[in-house]
Amino acid sequence: MIIRLDGRSGGMRPAMRVLGINAIFHDPSAAVIVDGRVVAAAEEERFSRRKHGKRPVPFAAWELPELAAAWCLEQAGLRPGDLDAVAYSFDPGLCRDAAEMGLDDPWDHLRADYARRAPQFLATALPGLDPEQVRFVPHHVAHAASAGLSVPEDSAVLVLDGRGERASHLAGAYRGGRLDVLCGQELPHSLGLLYEDLTRHLGFLHSSDEYKVMALASYGQPRFLGLLRELVRADGDGGFTVERIDWDALAKPRTAGEEMTEAHADLAASVQKRLEEVLLDLARWTYRAAGGLSTLTLAGGTALNCVANARIAAEGPFERVWVQPAAGDSGTALGAALAVNGEHLPFTTAALGRGWSDDELEAELRRAAVPYTRPASIAAEAAGVLARNGIVAWYQGRSEYGPRALGHRSLLAHPGDRDTQTRMNDVKGREQFRPIAPMVRAERFHDIFEGVYPSPYMLFVHRVRPDWRDRIPAVTHVDGTARVQTVHAEDEPVVSSLLTEFERLTGLPVVVNTSLNTAGRPMVDTPREALELFGSAPVDLLALGPFAVHRAQTYRSVE
Ligand SMILES: [Fe+2]
Repeated sequence: MIIRLDGRSGGMRPAMRVLGINAIFHDPSAAVIVDGRVVAAAEEERFSRRKHGKRPVPFAAWELPELAAAWCLEQAGLRPGDLDAVAYSFDPGLCRDAAEMGLDDPWDHLRADYARRAPQFLATALPGLDPEQVRFVPHHVAHAASAGLSVPEDSAVLVLDGRGERASHLAGAYRGGRLDVLCGQELPHSLGLLYEDLTRHLGFLHSSDEYKVMALASYGQPRFLGLLRELVRADGDGGFTVERIDWDALAKPRTAGEEMTEAHADLAASVQKRLEEVLLDLARWTYRAAGGLSTLTLAGGTALNCVANARIAAEGPFERVWVQPAAGDSGTALGAALAVNGEHLPFTTAALGRGWSDDELEAELRRAAVPYTRPASIAAEAAGVLARNGIVAWYQGRSEYGPRALGHRSLLAHPGDRDTQTRMNDVKGREQFRPIAPMVRAERFHDIFEGVYPSPYMLFVHRVRPDWRDRIPAVTHVDGTARVQTVHAEDEPVVSSLLTEFERLTGLPVVVNTSLNTAGRPMVDTPREALELFGSAPVDLLALGPFAVHRAQTYRSVE
């Protein structure tokens, strides 16, 4: 059959079965669309248990999301030979020589080499797959589709990441399912690589820990902003320039585990502020160039910067800003599949990963020989433990696609205890400056927070209303903000009842929500991993579907 990349199908369209694959840089993942429905999407790390799936280096580009792809096909009831297309989120035909792009990497060409051979690699990994079915989708077109085709309406779209084949940015407009590319900034200029360089300089893992830099920025003063305004600038034509930055002259390089100084925090604050300013300039340019579209959709790793997203929403020209929850490269599996499928498929849930039936969950509990109960309401049971200041491992339904826990694989706690942040960061072995985030019942959002609403995917920061800051100190960041998830009863009935019951017990319609994992590990995916976490971390209740596993102990009082 003929695959039309322009998205215009016209009249009756044949059934379409598309597998999306992201493999090239990091966060390998797979997604499958069948007959106009996103059936499944998952990251390889949830299967292989290797955080981010692979190292972000050129020689790892051959590694495919084999386990995630095989599971997606199984979930769709398809064999590899049944597919109409495989959409691969990188086009080696667009690559250029590293030196020509101003990059210093003697191995960069491996990415293009491996991508060219990906159809054969895929046919080996998924026996029966026809290599001829593999379509290369330009990396930023895949990101753009993951955002623009995930909303029902036409939208302007802005993609910013570290890099694609030869660019680091795309500004475009989706009309009637068709993407018009308005601008693309070529390498070496890259806002994503700028942030990655800073992440590395501050002693964190690049292409992984950028969100830690964003958290650190709230502790600093942007005293290097003047210099950064000279070095990092929007060019007025939709693109931007990033000059070489002498990081060492601004703050001493830090190694992992070394003490964080004021200069490090000030540098993070300065780069963060400049990033926000340039993104606002780019959003304004895109608004003008896209000609009257009132929705902006965002994707690319930079769109996980929820502080910048909140500023774009508050100060930018668009009426609505929608961010793809899997904004990083994992989302390009879905985006590539959407681009080949060629029509709007509104994104309604991030719960696209693996799930288990109640019978399967109970079988796991029996196998582990742990005492468990099936309370009348797991939501009420968990709310009771949270009200007594216990920590709950909350495992419900299908796992989330993307980096955020959204009430399916979550660690929950009381927001009213100042020590909760320390306890949660201890459970997870995280740095103590890392904030923890609240989930709130949608009906109560406006009483407590200001900012983008609804926010079901935790992609914006919000201001906590002053009279609430002392009531929910655990989730109020040092700058008076919180990264809120709004919980809507029609989408998340069990989590919504938990919040209702918690409010009845404590007067607080807010619960701390962080991802269900321990230090350096991917989020829990299977029930067995949930039991392993429960066995090795100071968690008071494991809520495994409708079942409750309690740890015998007395609870601490709320201070
Ligand atoms: Fe990307």
